[in-house]
Amino acid sequence: MAENQELAKRLQEIRREVSDKFAELTSAQSVYELRKSIMDSKVGRIGSLMREMGKIPAEERADYGKRVNELKNWAEQQFNELNERFKQAELEARYRREKIDVTIPAPAREIGNLHPVTLVTNELVDVFSSMGFEVFEGTEIETDHYNFTALNIPEGHPARDMQDTFYLSDKFLLRTQTSAGQIHVMEAKKPPIKVISPGKVFRSDDDATHSPMFTQMEGLVVDKGITLADLQGMLNELVGKVFGEGTTTRLRPSYFPFTEPSVEVDVSCPFCNGKGCSVCKGSGWIEILGAGMVHPHVLEMNGFDSEKCTGFAFGIGLERIAMLKYGIDDIRNFYINDVRFLKNFDRFD
Ligand code: DAH
Repeated sequence: MAENQELAKRLQEIRREVSDKFAELTSAQSVYELRKSIMDSKVGRIGSLMREMGKIPAEERADYGKRVNELKNWAEQQFNELNERFKQAELEARYRREKIDVTIPAPAREIGNLHPVTLVTNELVDVFSSMGFEVFEGTEIETDHYNFTALNIPEGHPARDMQDTFYLSDKFLLRTQTSAGQIHVMEAKKPPIKVISPGKVFRSDDDATHSPMFTQMEGLVVDKGITLADLQGMLNELVGKVFGEGTTTRLRPSYFPFTEPSVEVDVSCPFCNGKGCSVCKGSGWIEILGAGMVHPHVLEMNGFDSEKCTGFAFGIGLERIAMLKYGIDDIRNFYINDVRFLKNFDRFD
């Protein structure tokens, strides 16, 4: 009995001691660590009691085992409850920490937009495609033959000086005009031909209305019985779509070596509807492109019978169209890459 009382006292002490330790716990991790140390079979306050079981006299062992087990079960239950409580609290804290408010507006992202000349190119390609034109992509590096000679501009011809050329070598140059593409098309195709060819061209020229690199769109139509009236009909259709219905064109005589007759094409001023304003300098008309009937000599040089077929050609400066369309007065704006300028065009798609 004395033994029993002593054991009871000891167990009571351990329980109090462990209880005090419980009060110090702060997290699931600290619960885990305390449990490990208390239940350790060698040094743990409760774990070691189990180990002592063997030393207890046989007649007391059952009672000892029962009491120690009670203590152990009590401690385990406390550990489980504390562990649950801390885990739950930690989970809630984590939810609070990681909570995402999906209603907060996302930071605005800068989205790029197409260059105004690209917008105009795309628009014109669309209009010409709807009229049945194919697109031919020429190359920016050309030979003298395609850029000049085959276009009826032989060596020594003054027109070569009009287009100050960047030569890369004796043979190669940066094309000064997309007209070079006409020759490639005539080499590759037989009439009927209906092709446009947009692309960059290069001339050593640099002021408010000239850039050393600019963009043209060439057009070539060759078939039986093509006339200048077909050219003007097509152009009226084009300017109506690009500048608005009612816009028309007028042709003025001009000179290009590869067309005969040659014309300069004016569009009725889209700003004042032809009445006269500062953009058209009071004339009501604005020049937009060069064109003409393909010179019979150019047709013949490229293997076409000029008795059997005729054609028209035209070359449009696309920066000029963009300047008119968007009211831009200095061509250099297109190529100084100022984002404040370039980002204004996303709504003109
Ligand atoms: N190639 C000429 C230039 O760059 C523009 C041009 C005029 C093209 C008349 C043509 C044309 O096809 O027929 O100034």
